[in-house]
Formats: sequence, C-alpha cells, structure tokens
Amino acid sequence: MATNRGQFNSRLGFVLAAAGSAVGLGNIWKFPFEVGAGGGAAFVVIYLAFCFLLCFPVMISEIAIGRKTQLNAVGAFKKLGHHNWAWIGLLGILAGVFILSFYNVVAGWAFGYFLQMVQGNFEIGENFGSYISEWESIGLYGLVFMGVTALIVSKGIQGGIEKAAKILMPTLFAMIIGLMIYAFTLENAMAGIEYYLVPDFSEITGEVIYSALGQAFFSLSLGMGALITYGSYVSRKQDIVRSAAMITLTDVSVAFLAGLMIFPLVAFLNSGDMSSVSGGPGLIFATLPGVFEGLGPTLGIVIGAAFFLLLSFAALTSTVSLLEVPVAYLVDEKKIKRPVAVWGMATLIFLLGIPSLLGNGAVEQLTSFMTLYRDGQEQMISFMDFVELIASDTFLPLGGTVIAIFTAYIWKKHNLNAELMEGRETDSQWMMKYINFAVMFFCPLILGAITIITILERFFGIQVF
Ligand code: TRP
Repeated sequence: MATNRGQFNSRLGFVLAAAGSAVGLGNIWKFPFEVGAGGGAAFVVIYLAFCFLLCFPVMISEIAIGRKTQLNAVGAFKKLGHHNWAWIGLLGILAGVFILSFYNVVAGWAFGYFLQMVQGNFEIGENFGSYISEWESIGLYGLVFMGVTALIVSKGIQGGIEKAAKILMPTLFAMIIGLMIYAFTLENAMAGIEYYLVPDFSEITGEVIYSALGQAFFSLSLGMGALITYGSYVSRKQDIVRSAAMITLTDVSVAFLAGLMIFPLVAFLNSGDMSSVSGGPGLIFATLPGVFEGLGPTLGIVIGAAFFLLLSFAALTSTVSLLEVPVAYLVDEKKIKRPVAVWGMATLIFLLGIPSLLGNGAVEQLTSFMTLYRDGQEQMISFMDFVELIASDTFLPLGGTVIAIFTAYIWKKHNLNAELMEGRETDSQWMMKYINFAVMFFCPLILGAITIITILERFFGIQVF
C-alpha cells in the first residue's frame, strides 16, 4: 500500500515539505501583527515557550501516528484506536478546510501585491483597506492561487509537494535575511527591536495567552492532522524526533526573523514611536510598500516584487499541505481518484472562502459580522476573523489536546516510543523522557485548560481569571 500512496524521497525532502507547510503567511503576515496586537515582546516570549514545550511533543505524536499507520488523518485514528475515534480526524479535516478557505483569500492579497509592485504602485500600502474590499480582483487572484495549489497537489508527493518546497524554502529564507539587514541600517531601527525583544509583562492578558497558543498551533501546522498526513509519507529509516526538531526550529526562526525585519521598518516609518502600533492584518501590507519605495524606483520594484512573490510562494507550500489533508482522506477512505478529489475539494474550498472574501469591506454584514468578547470587552469582528477564531484559535489547540490524550492513553506510550525508536539516530534519553511526560500530563492538562478557558471567555464572556 505504501508504494502507491507515494513517499518523500529523502529526509531533507520531508523536512522541507513539512517546514514549507509550517512556514507561510502565519510567519510573515500573521506573527508580526499578533505581536503588535499582543503588546510586543511579552507575546513573543509566551509564543516561543508554547512552540517548544507544548507544540513540539504534539508534532512528534502526529508524525508518529502518520508513519505508523501510513494513513490519512481519519484512517489513522480508526486504525490505532477504534471507529469511535474517527471524529478527531474529521474535526481536523473540517478545521483545515475552513482555514484554507480564508488563507487563500490572504494569499490572494499577497499575490495581488506582487502584481502591484511590478507596476511600481507603492501607494498601495496606504490604500490597503480599499484594496482588500475589491472582491472581484482579489477573488480572481484567489482563484489563480487555488488553481496552482490544486495543480501541485494533483501531481502527488515527490513530483509536486517535495520539489516545490526544495526550491522555494531556501530562497525565502535568504530574502528575509537580506531585508532584515537592510532594516537594521535604517533610522530608529533600535526602537523597533526594543519593542520586539524587551518584554513588558504587564501587557499579558488572557487574550494574549490564547492568541499566542492559537498562533503557535497555526504556525506549526498542528492540531488538524496535516502532519499525520505528511507523516504517512515518511520512511521508517527517518528519525522523527530529529526531523520534528528541525521543522520546529525552521518555523520559529522564520517567524522570529520576520519580526526582526518588520519592527525596525515600522519604527522607521513611525519615527521611532511604537506606542501606536496595534497590529492587525494590515501590518505588513500597509508598511512594506512605503519601505520599498524608499529604495528608489528600480531597486524598490525589484525588491518589492521579489518579496511579495516569495510571500506568495511561502503561502503556496502551506496551501498545498492544507489541501493535501482532505484529499488524502478522500483518496484513502473513499477510494476517490486523486485528480477528482483534488479538483473537487479545491472548488468546494474556494466557494467556502467567498464570505471571507466579501467580508473585508465589500459586504457590510460580513465585514461587521458579529460581536465577541476579548478580555471581557465586546468587539465587532468580520466573517474572516470569525472563521479564524473557530477553525484556528479554537479547533487547533483542541485538536492538539485530543491528539496528546489519544497518543498517551489510547495508542499508548510504549507504542509511541517504539515508533520513535525506529530510525532514531541517538540514544540520548532525556528527550524521550520529556516527550513522554509532555504527552501524558503536560499537554493534556495545560493545553486542555487553556482551550476550555478560551472557549468560555471568548464565546460566553465568562471571565475565568
Ligand atoms: N502553518 C501555515 C502558516 O503558518 C498554515 C498552515 C498550513 C496550517 N498547513 C496548516 C495551519 C495546517 C494549520 C494546520 O502559514
């Protein structure tokens, strides 16, 4: 069975594909604006702790479950547990479908910005609000984006997903470093770095903690079976723990560097005044074009276009992984042919994204969609914020909690350990001990508690603390 499902060709191939899934708009677009909304460095500290302490063990569990069963998210739980556990996989697939529905809209923004940069339209940064309300053009870019995603996924594992990641990932990395160095040379850069790196712990509220957790899961592509699915294409000779460490480190580094790049730029544009930074989805889109303009007409166009093209590519290796999850499910469980599953799913998800597309100014009811509680305050959010809140900030940590509980108590610790020992390249014990402790106690308790508190506070306005 393994042979006709496809497999990654090499260790690097898997790590790059999984890192490609992880590194995306979440790192370069979402992370900086979450930092801005969460008050700066305090958010960064909590985010890093979540990534390494809570998310990393969940990632290992997901990859191990996938490799052990060689199945999609639903099939894997059925095989290791019981039919009753299929719902976790289904919940994950549902979350993925909804995440992709709005993610694709933002990918459309990024791709549209590339086209604007090519034409030298640097004013676009100031017109961000009206730009995203033009649903016809953004919809068209989104359609193109979904089409390219589907094309890659339809080509399968090695020829499509692995190949794309190997070329795109390193280029992106180099680009961010280059821009970061440039940002450091600008006036007031230090004020931005300080805002980003010197924590003010009085900024921490419940909301900051939930957003940091949601962001950690989102950025690492965890909690919905994406890494179960990718894990199912991994060879038994590969060291899972080590690969997971490489994926986590790559993802966290790219997010961290993106912050180091953007905050000096923001400080430069605000003449060093960071008190007005509030984050929000417009952060990079509103800021960067003005910076590129400062590079002069030719260089500005070249760098600006390259940046948004690479951002689009980073998004592409992520949309590919989001689409692969429901596709693998349809192919394995429902015996649907890959091309049919791919194009059918892509169409469905594009259609599900239409309310998100329209909810950025085009249709008032979707733009001011509903009121929610944040730190006890009522707040109006758009349809896209709403989907993000349910699918990403709520379902992913919930999925992570259940995956940890499932791994420790249904599949059982010794089976996890046996799977991790296959291909393990060292016999150092402390890491295995931590992973066991985390999946058995730390993740279920802490993740579970934060998830429940988030749901109570956000949706019911019940202040737990
Ligand atoms: N991690 C990606 C990003 O940061 C988004 C993503 C891709 C994702 N696949 C996922 C998020 C699976 C959750 C689950 O942009």
